[in-house]
Amino acid sequence: MTQDELKQAVGRAAADYVAAHAPAGSVIGVGTGSTANCFIDALAPIGSRYRGAVASSEATRARLERHGIPVLDLNDVDTIPVYVDGADEIDGGLNMIKGGGGALTREKIVAAVATTFVCICDASKRVEVMGRFPLPVEVIPMARAHVARELASLGGTPVLRAGFVTDNGNQILDVHGLAITDPKGLEARINQITGVVTNGLFAMRPADVLLLGTDTGVRTFS
Ligand code: A5P
Repeated sequence: MTQDELKQAVGRAAADYVAAHAPAGSVIGVGTGSTANCFIDALAPIGSRYRGAVASSEATRARLERHGIPVLDLNDVDTIPVYVDGADEIDGGLNMIKGGGGALTREKIVAAVATTFVCICDASKRVEVMGRFPLPVEVIPMARAHVARELASLGGTPVLRAGFVTDNGNQILDVHGLAITDPKGLEARINQITGVVTNGLFAMRPADVLLLGTDTGVRTFS
């Protein structure tokens, strides 16, 4: 199977998961990226069962609305039974690096509200130790140089994502060269740097379920 076919397969599996686990009338959390797009397309036929969705980016909002799925403000939502999103890397503890699409902060906020985080990805994203994929860090623009120095002191090589502005009006530093052996500790350490909005490690709030697309079918881990 091609990578696109694997993404479509996990997108369909996630829609089945939502149909089985999210009560009718509830609100679905929807992530960002090419795999999340496959989920949105698979969710469309059953979208009317739900009150609507909370989107983790403006791109996702637009795609949901094109499918006729109402998009709600998170401040008007108390509970999200299921949040479905992709990842750039995921380890055996279901810790993730996210933010390749730059939506990490809103993704982390939706994940914080969700009861169950379902990660969907193809088998190429599954790793033993995270860090080969550069770790995205969203920064307040005036703090960029300060944050970059601090990240370098942690052993990484931060690179400004050129020409990119997040949905929140901030910039992204992609940190290369980190071997992330303590995901929770590093997540907390980077978040303490003044000027960091958030970083793309999802270890304090990892996924609860992984639907992994492989050549032999979609495998479920929890
Ligand atoms: C968006 O900011 C990311 O966290 C995505 O979820 C992640 O980059 C996975 O994207 P793809 O599904 O496009 O690989």
